[in-house]
Amino acid sequence: MGEPVIRIRNLRKVIDGREILKGINLDIYEGEIFVIIGGSGSGKSTLLKHIVGLWKPTEGCVCVFGQNLAELDEQELDKIRLKMGYVFQEGALFDFLKVWENVGFYYLEHTNLPKPVVRKKAIELLRQVDLDEKVADLYPSQLSGGMKKRVSTARAIAGEGRIILYDEPTSGLDPVTSRNIDRLIVSLRDRLGSTSVVVTHDMISAVSIADRIGFIYKGELLEVGTPEQILNSKNPLVREFVEKGLYGLKRER
Ligand SMILES: Nc1ncnc2c1ncn2[C@@H]1O[C@H](COP(=O)(O)OP(=O)(O)OP(=O)(O)O)[C@@H](O)[C@H]1O
Ligand SMILES: [Mg+2]
Repeated sequence: MGEPVIRIRNLRKVIDGREILKGINLDIYEGEIFVIIGGSGSGKSTLLKHIVGLWKPTEGCVCVFGQNLAELDEQELDKIRLKMGYVFQEGALFDFLKVWENVGFYYLEHTNLPKPVVRKKAIELLRQVDLDEKVADLYPSQLSGGMKKRVSTARAIAGEGRIILYDEPTSGLDPVTSRNIDRLIVSLRDRLGSTSVVVTHDMISAVSIADRIGFIYKGELLEVGTPEQILNSKNPLVREFVEKGLYGLKRER
């Protein structure tokens, strides 16, 4: 499998005296779709924020492409971030910018490329996520939830897209749109060969797209395995999460 592109060792994070991540160890390999599942407040988003270097570990380390993020200065960190796209849980599109300006934001801010060139690039990226050229000149408030997720994804792959991190890409979306987003994640990996880390509560999405799944519980990575291994886990906490996720809705009626 070669060297992992993301290597996490004994990652601890304490915020306001509370231990949010309790010693995470994890390797993620090139081209892999690694899905992180777990309940609300278990630390999934916090873990992603450490992988992009938005947070610094209290203890332990996160290495991306062999470099310890905590040892890099802002400039070096920016260079690595160029290879990483992050689809935020909240979507985080700029409401005052048109769709194409959101997608091409990096180029508008960090390069001297003329606007029409950036707009063309943005339209190309929108196509990659199956959005029509017409969407380019709309504002985020004019889009549906599913379209916003696609626009965020287009922005995330605008850099070099070697690693794409998705935080709850299907939350708040209807089942059909969710499955479309799932297909999109897999097809981007297949086409770009990027490594993907996907945080989700959605078990159906997790088992259908993952190469491996990690279950996080109260800041601990309790189990890592293939979808099949996770579905057949003997750990009662994993079993409960999986069963609720796959059959819970049916049982509630
Ligand atoms: N900036 C912060 N300041 C203080 N506490 C925080 C901060 N960010 C996260 N936390 C706490 O860390 C814990 C883990 O939060 P995190 O957002 O990582 O959970 P999550 O697994 O992503 O949950 P969800 O599924 O609801 O998105 C929570 O108890 C949260 O309150
Ligand atoms: Mg979260």
